[in-house]
Amino acid sequence: MNERHSTPPNTHEDLISAIGKTPLIRLNRITEDLQESSVWVKLERCNPGGSIKDRIGLQMVLDAEEKGLLKPGGTIVEGTSGNTGIGLAMVAAQRGYKCVFTMADKMSKEKIDLLKAMGAEVHVCPTNVEKEDPRSYYEVAARLSREIPGAWYPDQYSHHANPLTHYYSTGPEIWDQTEGKITHFVATMGTGGTISGTSKALREIASQNDSSVPKIIGVDAVGSILKQWFEEGTLGEPSTYKVEGFGEDFIPSATDFSMIDEIHQVDDGECFQWARALARKEGMFCGGSCGGSIKVAIDIAREADKRGEEAMVVAILPDSGNPYLSKFYNDDWLRENGWEPDDWE
Ligand SMILES: Cc1ncc(COP(=O)(O)O)c(C=O)c1O
Repeated sequence: MNERHSTPPNTHEDLISAIGKTPLIRLNRITEDLQESSVWVKLERCNPGGSIKDRIGLQMVLDAEEKGLLKPGGTIVEGTSGNTGIGLAMVAAQRGYKCVFTMADKMSKEKIDLLKAMGAEVHVCPTNVEKEDPRSYYEVAARLSREIPGAWYPDQYSHHANPLTHYYSTGPEIWDQTEGKITHFVATMGTGGTISGTSKALREIASQNDSSVPKIIGVDAVGSILKQWFEEGTLGEPSTYKVEGFGEDFIPSATDFSMIDEIHQVDDGECFQWARALARKEGMFCGGSCGGSIKVAIDIAREADKRGEEAMVVAILPDSGNPYLSKFYNDDWLRENGWEPDDWE
Protein backbone atom coordinates (compact mmCIF):
# COMPACT_ATOMS: atom_id res chain seq x y z
CA MET A 1 0.00 0.00 0.00
CA ASN A 2 1.40 3.42 -0.86
CA GLU A 3 1.92 5.82 2.00
CA ARG A 4 -0.79 8.30 1.00
CA HIS A 5 -3.41 5.55 1.34
CA SER A 6 -2.18 4.01 4.58
CA THR A 7 -4.41 4.45 7.62
CA PRO A 8 -3.44 5.07 11.25
CA PRO A 9 -3.11 1.93 13.43
CA ASN A 10 -6.37 0.02 13.98
CA THR A 11 -8.29 2.31 11.66
CA HIS A 12 -10.08 0.84 8.65
CA GLU A 13 -11.49 2.23 5.42
CA ASP A 14 -14.33 -0.32 5.64
CA LEU A 15 -15.61 -3.07 7.93
CA ILE A 16 -14.28 -6.00 5.94
CA SER A 17 -10.70 -4.79 6.19
CA ALA A 18 -11.09 -5.20 9.98
CA ILE A 19 -11.42 -9.01 9.55
CA GLY A 20 -8.61 -11.14 11.02
CA LYS A 21 -5.53 -10.23 13.12
CA THR A 22 -7.46 -11.40 16.19
CA PRO A 23 -5.72 -11.41 19.59
CA LEU A 24 -3.93 -14.46 20.99
CA ILE A 25 -4.47 -14.58 24.75
CA ARG A 26 -2.96 -16.75 27.47
CA LEU A 27 -5.34 -18.56 29.83
CA ASN A 28 -4.37 -18.03 33.45
CA ARG A 29 -6.94 -18.94 36.10
CA ILE A 30 -8.41 -22.02 34.43
CA THR A 31 -4.90 -23.38 33.91
CA GLU A 32 -3.35 -22.36 37.25
CA ASP A 33 -2.28 -25.97 37.94
CA LEU A 34 0.11 -25.94 34.95
CA GLN A 35 3.82 -25.60 35.76
CA GLU A 36 5.78 -25.53 32.50
CA SER A 37 3.11 -25.62 29.82
CA SER A 38 0.68 -22.93 28.75
CA VAL A 39 -2.60 -22.67 26.85
CA TRP A 40 -3.26 -19.73 24.54
CA VAL A 41 -6.48 -18.95 22.71
CA LYS A 42 -7.11 -17.18 19.42
CA LEU A 43 -10.17 -15.08 20.18
CA GLU A 44 -12.07 -15.16 16.88
CA ARG A 45 -15.12 -13.44 18.36
CA CYS A 46 -13.09 -10.24 17.87
CA ASN A 47 -13.81 -10.38 14.15
CA PRO A 48 -16.37 -7.70 13.17
CA GLY A 49 -19.14 -10.28 12.53
CA GLY A 50 -18.30 -12.10 15.78
CA SER A 51 -16.73 -15.34 14.52
CA ILE A 52 -13.91 -17.01 12.61
CA LYS A 53 -16.27 -17.40 9.64
CA ASP A 54 -15.89 -13.72 8.71
CA ARG A 55 -12.54 -14.74 7.27
CA ILE A 56 -13.98 -17.23 4.79
CA GLY A 57 -17.15 -15.22 4.07
CA LEU A 58 -15.04 -12.43 2.63
CA GLN A 59 -12.66 -14.64 0.63
CA MET A 60 -15.42 -16.77 -0.91
CA VAL A 61 -17.22 -13.59 -2.08
CA LEU A 62 -14.01 -12.08 -3.53
CA ASP A 63 -13.33 -15.36 -5.36
CA ALA A 64 -16.88 -15.45 -6.80
CA GLU A 65 -16.68 -11.81 -7.93
CA GLU A 66 -13.35 -12.45 -9.62
CA LYS A 67 -14.71 -15.50 -11.46
CA GLY A 68 -17.92 -13.67 -12.46
CA LEU A 69 -20.07 -16.10 -10.42
CA LEU A 70 -21.54 -13.29 -8.32
CA LYS A 71 -22.70 -10.21 -10.22
CA PRO A 72 -23.97 -6.85 -8.92
CA GLY A 73 -27.39 -7.29 -7.30
CA GLY A 74 -26.88 -11.10 -7.10
CA THR A 75 -28.02 -13.40 -4.30
CA ILE A 76 -25.79 -15.46 -2.00
CA VAL A 77 -27.38 -18.80 -1.06
CA GLU A 78 -25.66 -20.90 1.63
CA GLY A 79 -26.30 -23.64 4.17
CA THR A 80 -24.87 -22.47 7.48
CA SER A 81 -24.76 -23.25 11.18
CA GLY A 82 -25.06 -19.46 11.54
CA ASN A 83 -21.58 -18.03 11.65
CA THR A 84 -20.74 -18.37 7.95
CA GLY A 85 -24.10 -16.78 7.23
CA ILE A 86 -23.22 -13.83 9.43
CA GLY A 87 -19.82 -13.46 7.73
CA LEU A 88 -21.46 -13.60 4.29
CA ALA A 89 -24.31 -11.26 5.30
CA MET A 90 -21.80 -8.72 6.57
CA VAL A 91 -19.88 -8.72 3.28
CA ALA A 92 -23.16 -8.77 1.32
CA ALA A 93 -24.43 -5.69 3.19
CA GLN A 94 -21.24 -3.84 2.31
CA ARG A 95 -21.36 -4.82 -1.36
CA GLY A 96 -25.09 -4.80 -2.09
CA TYR A 97 -25.93 -8.51 -2.44
CA LYS A 98 -29.02 -10.32 -1.16
CA CYS A 99 -28.67 -13.37 1.12
CA VAL A 100 -30.77 -16.52 1.44
CA PHE A 101 -29.62 -19.01 4.10
CA THR A 102 -30.69 -22.47 5.17
CA MET A 103 -30.11 -23.69 8.72
CA ALA A 104 -30.80 -26.86 10.69
CA ASP A 105 -33.52 -26.43 13.29
CA LYS A 106 -31.16 -27.28 16.17
CA MET A 107 -29.39 -23.92 15.71
CA SER A 108 -30.11 -21.21 18.25
CA LYS A 109 -32.94 -18.72 17.69
CA GLU A 110 -30.44 -15.92 18.31
CA LYS A 111 -28.46 -16.94 15.22
CA ILE A 112 -31.59 -17.06 13.06
CA ASP A 113 -32.75 -13.66 14.38
CA LEU A 114 -29.31 -12.18 13.84
CA LEU A 115 -29.21 -13.30 10.20
CA LYS A 116 -32.66 -11.81 9.66
CA ALA A 117 -31.55 -8.58 11.37
CA MET A 118 -28.77 -8.37 8.80
CA GLY A 119 -31.32 -8.57 6.00
CA ALA A 120 -31.08 -12.28 5.13
CA GLU A 121 -33.96 -14.60 4.29
CA VAL A 122 -33.64 -17.75 6.46
CA HIS A 123 -35.09 -21.20 5.76
CA VAL A 124 -35.09 -23.48 8.81
CA CYS A 125 -34.77 -27.18 7.91
CA PRO A 126 -35.00 -30.41 9.96
CA THR A 127 -31.78 -31.56 11.69
CA ASN A 128 -32.68 -35.25 11.88
CA VAL A 129 -32.53 -36.07 8.17
CA GLU A 130 -29.66 -37.31 6.03
CA LYS A 131 -27.59 -34.84 4.04
CA GLU A 132 -29.02 -36.23 0.75
CA ASP A 133 -32.62 -35.82 1.95
CA PRO A 134 -34.36 -33.06 -0.08
CA ARG A 135 -35.42 -31.46 3.25
CA SER A 136 -31.85 -31.18 4.64
CA TYR A 137 -30.34 -27.73 4.87
CA TYR A 138 -27.63 -28.75 2.39
CA GLU A 139 -30.16 -29.88 -0.24
CA VAL A 140 -32.54 -26.96 0.29
CA ALA A 141 -29.61 -24.56 -0.23
CA ALA A 142 -28.59 -26.38 -3.42
CA ARG A 143 -32.18 -26.31 -4.73
CA LEU A 144 -32.71 -22.62 -3.92
CA SER A 145 -29.44 -21.76 -5.66
CA ARG A 146 -30.80 -23.41 -8.83
CA GLU A 147 -34.18 -21.71 -8.57
CA ILE A 148 -33.19 -18.12 -7.69
CA PRO A 149 -32.01 -16.07 -10.70
CA GLY A 150 -28.52 -14.65 -10.22
CA ALA A 151 -27.87 -16.94 -7.23
CA TRP A 152 -24.42 -18.06 -6.20
CA TYR A 153 -23.95 -21.03 -3.82
CA PRO A 154 -20.48 -20.95 -2.20
CA ASP A 155 -20.84 -24.30 -0.33
CA GLN A 156 -18.23 -23.80 2.38
CA TYR A 157 -17.95 -27.60 2.77
CA SER A 158 -16.22 -27.93 -0.58
CA HIS A 159 -15.00 -24.39 -1.35
CA HIS A 160 -11.22 -24.15 -1.91
CA ALA A 161 -11.18 -20.59 -0.47
CA ASN A 162 -12.28 -21.95 2.92
CA PRO A 163 -9.02 -23.73 3.89
CA LEU A 164 -7.01 -21.31 1.73
CA THR A 165 -8.16 -18.32 3.81
CA HIS A 166 -6.78 -19.94 6.95
CA TYR A 167 -3.59 -20.87 5.11
CA TYR A 168 -3.01 -17.22 4.24
CA SER A 169 -4.31 -15.58 7.43
CA THR A 170 -4.96 -17.68 10.56
CA GLY A 171 -1.86 -19.88 10.26
CA PRO A 172 0.73 -17.11 9.67
CA GLU A 173 -0.90 -14.96 12.37
CA ILE A 174 -0.50 -17.76 14.93
CA TRP A 175 3.09 -18.39 13.89
CA ASP A 176 3.96 -14.70 14.30
CA GLN A 177 2.03 -14.28 17.55
CA THR A 178 3.78 -17.29 19.14
CA GLU A 179 7.13 -16.34 17.57
CA GLY A 180 7.23 -19.89 16.25
CA LYS A 181 7.09 -21.42 19.74
CA ILE A 182 3.71 -23.13 19.25
CA THR A 183 3.95 -26.87 20.03
CA HIS A 184 0.29 -27.94 19.62
CA PHE A 185 -2.58 -26.52 17.57
CA VAL A 186 -6.15 -27.42 18.57
CA ALA A 187 -9.27 -26.70 16.49
CA THR A 188 -12.80 -28.02 16.32
CA MET A 189 -13.75 -29.55 12.97
CA GLY A 190 -16.86 -28.69 11.00
CA THR A 191 -16.08 -28.05 7.36
CA GLY A 192 -12.46 -28.68 8.39
CA GLY A 193 -11.39 -25.45 6.70
CA THR A 194 -9.86 -23.95 9.85
CA ILE A 195 -7.75 -26.95 10.81
CA SER A 196 -6.69 -27.87 7.26
CA GLY A 197 -5.54 -24.41 6.13
CA THR A 198 -4.03 -23.32 9.45
CA SER A 199 -2.05 -26.54 9.88
CA LYS A 200 -0.74 -26.47 6.31
CA ALA A 201 0.62 -22.96 6.94
CA LEU A 202 2.08 -23.86 10.35
CA ARG A 203 3.77 -26.98 8.96
CA GLU A 204 5.26 -25.11 6.01
CA ILE A 205 6.45 -22.09 7.97
CA ALA A 206 7.97 -24.34 10.67
CA SER A 207 9.87 -26.34 8.03
CA GLN A 208 11.08 -23.18 6.27
CA ASN A 209 12.41 -21.92 9.62
CA ASP A 210 13.97 -25.27 10.61
CA SER A 211 11.69 -25.24 13.65
CA SER A 212 9.81 -28.20 15.07
CA VAL A 213 6.45 -28.72 13.44
CA PRO A 214 3.53 -28.31 15.87
CA LYS A 215 1.25 -31.25 16.51
CA ILE A 216 -2.19 -30.73 14.96
CA ILE A 217 -5.17 -31.88 17.04
CA GLY A 218 -8.72 -31.88 15.71
CA VAL A 219 -11.74 -31.82 18.00
CA ASP A 220 -14.85 -33.71 16.92
CA ALA A 221 -18.26 -34.05 18.59
CA VAL A 222 -19.54 -37.32 20.06
CA GLY A 223 -22.21 -38.35 17.52
CA SER A 224 -20.19 -37.13 14.53
CA ILE A 225 -18.45 -39.47 12.07
CA LEU A 226 -15.17 -37.58 11.55
CA LYS A 227 -12.98 -39.26 14.19
CA GLN A 228 -13.85 -42.80 13.08
CA TRP A 229 -13.26 -41.87 9.43
CA PHE A 230 -9.85 -40.46 10.34
CA GLU A 231 -8.78 -43.41 12.49
CA GLU A 232 -10.37 -46.38 10.74
CA GLY A 233 -11.38 -45.14 7.30
CA THR A 234 -14.96 -46.26 7.89
CA LEU A 235 -18.22 -44.32 8.03
CA GLY A 236 -19.98 -44.76 11.37
CA GLU A 237 -23.62 -44.09 12.10
CA PRO A 238 -24.08 -40.43 13.07
CA SER A 239 -26.31 -39.48 16.00
CA THR A 240 -27.61 -36.04 16.97
CA TYR A 241 -25.94 -33.84 19.53
CA LYS A 242 -26.68 -30.37 20.81
CA VAL A 243 -23.42 -28.46 20.55
CA GLU A 244 -23.36 -26.27 17.42
CA GLY A 245 -20.82 -25.62 14.69
CA PHE A 246 -18.64 -28.73 14.59
CA GLY A 247 -18.78 -32.45 13.92
CA GLU A 248 -20.43 -33.74 10.74
CA ASP A 249 -22.61 -36.54 9.40
CA PHE A 250 -20.64 -36.65 6.12
CA ILE A 251 -17.00 -36.10 5.09
CA PRO A 252 -16.49 -32.51 3.82
CA SER A 253 -14.05 -32.21 0.92
CA ALA A 254 -12.70 -28.98 2.49
CA THR A 255 -11.03 -31.19 5.15
CA ASP A 256 -7.49 -32.37 4.41
CA PHE A 257 -7.08 -35.25 6.88
CA SER A 258 -3.39 -35.58 5.97
CA MET A 259 -2.80 -32.29 7.83
CA ILE A 260 -4.11 -33.72 11.13
CA ASP A 261 -2.20 -35.81 13.70
CA GLU A 262 -4.95 -36.74 16.17
CA ILE A 263 -8.68 -36.27 16.61
CA HIS A 264 -10.28 -36.16 20.07
CA GLN A 265 -14.01 -36.30 20.69
CA VAL A 266 -15.92 -34.23 23.24
CA ASP A 267 -19.53 -34.56 24.33
CA ASP A 268 -22.18 -31.87 24.76
CA GLY A 269 -21.79 -31.65 28.54
CA GLU A 270 -18.01 -31.17 28.29
CA CYS A 271 -18.45 -28.39 25.70
CA PHE A 272 -21.05 -26.55 27.77
CA GLN A 273 -19.25 -26.98 31.09
CA TRP A 274 -15.92 -25.74 29.73
CA ALA A 275 -17.50 -22.82 27.84
CA ARG A 276 -19.19 -21.69 31.05
CA ALA A 277 -15.91 -22.06 32.93
CA LEU A 278 -14.17 -19.88 30.33
CA ALA A 279 -16.78 -17.15 30.92
CA ARG A 280 -16.67 -17.36 34.71
CA LYS A 281 -12.96 -17.90 35.30
CA GLU A 282 -11.34 -16.11 32.38
CA GLY A 283 -14.06 -13.60 31.46
CA MET A 284 -14.22 -15.00 27.92
CA PHE A 285 -17.83 -15.34 26.81
CA CYS A 286 -17.64 -17.92 24.04
CA GLY A 287 -19.62 -20.61 22.20
CA GLY A 288 -19.91 -24.35 22.86
CA SER A 289 -17.27 -25.34 20.31
CA CYS A 290 -14.84 -23.12 22.27
CA GLY A 291 -15.62 -25.20 25.36
CA GLY A 292 -14.77 -28.41 23.47
CA SER A 293 -11.61 -26.93 22.07
CA ILE A 294 -10.42 -25.71 25.45
CA LYS A 295 -11.17 -29.01 27.17
CA VAL A 296 -8.88 -30.83 24.73
CA ALA A 297 -6.21 -28.09 24.83
CA ILE A 298 -6.02 -28.22 28.64
CA ASP A 299 -5.88 -32.05 28.65
CA ILE A 300 -2.93 -31.89 26.23
CA ALA A 301 -1.14 -29.20 28.25
CA ARG A 302 -1.61 -31.20 31.49
CA GLU A 303 -0.22 -34.37 29.91
CA ALA A 304 2.79 -32.45 28.59
CA ASP A 305 3.24 -30.81 31.98
CA LYS A 306 3.31 -34.21 33.71
CA ARG A 307 6.15 -35.20 31.37
CA GLY A 308 7.97 -31.99 32.36
CA GLU A 309 7.59 -30.52 28.86
CA GLU A 310 7.15 -26.85 28.06
CA ALA A 311 4.18 -27.14 25.70
CA MET A 312 2.64 -24.04 24.14
CA VAL A 313 -0.84 -25.13 23.15
CA VAL A 314 -2.86 -22.81 20.92
CA ALA A 315 -6.62 -23.35 20.62
CA ILE A 316 -9.04 -21.61 18.30
CA LEU A 317 -12.11 -20.10 19.99
CA PRO A 318 -14.40 -19.71 16.94
CA ASP A 319 -17.22 -17.51 18.23
CA SER A 320 -18.95 -15.62 21.03
CA GLY A 321 -21.44 -16.79 23.67
CA ASN A 322 -24.15 -14.35 22.52
CA PRO A 323 -25.97 -16.80 20.21
CA TYR A 324 -26.21 -19.36 23.02
CA LEU A 325 -27.71 -17.25 25.82
CA SER A 326 -31.02 -19.08 25.55
CA LYS A 327 -29.26 -22.45 25.46
CA PHE A 328 -26.36 -23.68 27.61
CA TYR A 329 -25.87 -20.30 29.30
CA ASN A 330 -29.43 -20.63 30.55
CA ASP A 331 -29.70 -22.82 33.69
CA ASP A 332 -33.32 -23.80 32.95
CA TRP A 333 -32.41 -24.98 29.43
CA LEU A 334 -29.57 -27.05 30.88
CA ARG A 335 -31.86 -28.69 33.47
CA GLU A 336 -34.54 -29.39 30.83
CA ASN A 337 -31.86 -31.19 28.84
CA GLY A 338 -30.54 -33.29 31.70
CA TRP A 339 -27.60 -31.31 33.11
CA GLU A 340 -27.29 -29.82 36.58
CA PRO A 341 -25.39 -26.50 36.29
CA ASP A 342 -24.73 -26.36 40.04
CA ASP A 343 -22.53 -29.47 39.64
CA TRP A 344 -20.28 -27.46 37.35
CA GLU A 345 -19.57 -24.56 39.71
C1 LIG B 1 -19.03 -22.18 16.27
C2 LIG B 1 -18.19 -22.95 15.31
N1 LIG B 1 -17.18 -23.69 15.78
C3 LIG B 1 -16.41 -24.43 14.96
C4 LIG B 1 -16.59 -24.46 13.61
C5 LIG B 1 -15.73 -25.33 12.74
O1 LIG B 1 -14.90 -24.62 11.86
P1 LIG B 1 -14.56 -25.23 10.44
O2 LIG B 1 -15.83 -25.24 9.64
O3 LIG B 1 -13.53 -24.32 9.85
O4 LIG B 1 -14.05 -26.63 10.62
C6 LIG B 1 -17.66 -23.72 13.09
C7 LIG B 1 -17.99 -23.78 11.68
O5 LIG B 1 -19.07 -23.40 11.23
C8 LIG B 1 -18.46 -22.94 13.96
O6 LIG B 1 -19.50 -22.19 13.49
